[in-house]
Amino acid sequence: MKILLISGSPRGERSVTFAFAKEILRGARDAGAEVETEHLSGRKVGFCHACESCHKAAMTCHIKDEAHIVILKMLNADGVVFATPNYVNQVTGQMKALFDRTSNLIHCQRLLGKYAAAAVSSGSGNNQPVTDYLGSYSRLCGAQFSGSVSCGHAPSAEGLKAAYALGIKLAADIGAKTVYEEQMKEIETRRRYFAEIIRRRKADWDGEYRYYTEKGWL
Ligand SMILES: Cc1cc2nc3c(=O)[nH]c(=O)nc-3n(C[C@H](O)[C@H](O)[C@H](O)COP(=O)(O)O)c2cc1C
Repeated sequence: MKILLISGSPRGERSVTFAFAKEILRGARDAGAEVETEHLSGRKVGFCHACESCHKAAMTCHIKDEAHIVILKMLNADGVVFATPNYVNQVTGQMKALFDRTSNLIHCQRLLGKYAAAAVSSGSGNNQPVTDYLGSYSRLCGAQFSGSVSCGHAPSAEGLKAAYALGIKLAADIGAKTVYEEQMKEIETRRRYFAEIIRRRKADWDGEYRYYTEKGWL
């Protein structure tokens, strides 16, 4: 069982959020997972150019940077942990730039069958918009969201305990293939929505059309 932590802070190893999220990984590791971290601060991930090539020939992108390395790791993991500080009630620009590059993961729900979790920190501790967004992004990609932990500028002992417990829960969800019924309903509704668009745009988005056909989703 592989779990990937994607850390969106520009502060890399010095990030408070990363220190917090490491507790999630410690819990997951103690529950038997193999864990890996990707610091987006150490990766070149440019902005999406909206050329739609990833819809035409699914999963291709003409921007020659390092986004594909992180995306491939997401595809190869059983679980993904998103760690980001709250920047203006959102994820950091680094993390959003990565998400914008995952349009094909969203249209084709390529994280279906996987699980996600999140850790967020901020000055104010008002992190709900960010944790909600990360849950929504995970489901957009098809992954069920095991939960999140959140803190002000430093996690309390209780917060660290909650993070460790979340790591154990994430690993347990992966092992048991837990079904969160409400989340699966949302994922299936979204798939029907994209199936309709992909059917209409068959000529432009032939790669995604083929993927949906192979999956029997049309
Ligand atoms: C550009 C920027 C925007 C921020 N926006 C917010 C915000 O909207 N709300 C908040 O409570 N804290 C905000 N903060 C504070 C950070 O979320 C906080 O310091 C965080 O713990 C830093 O985490 P890190 O060490 O993982 O980078 C902002 C900080 C920066 C640099």
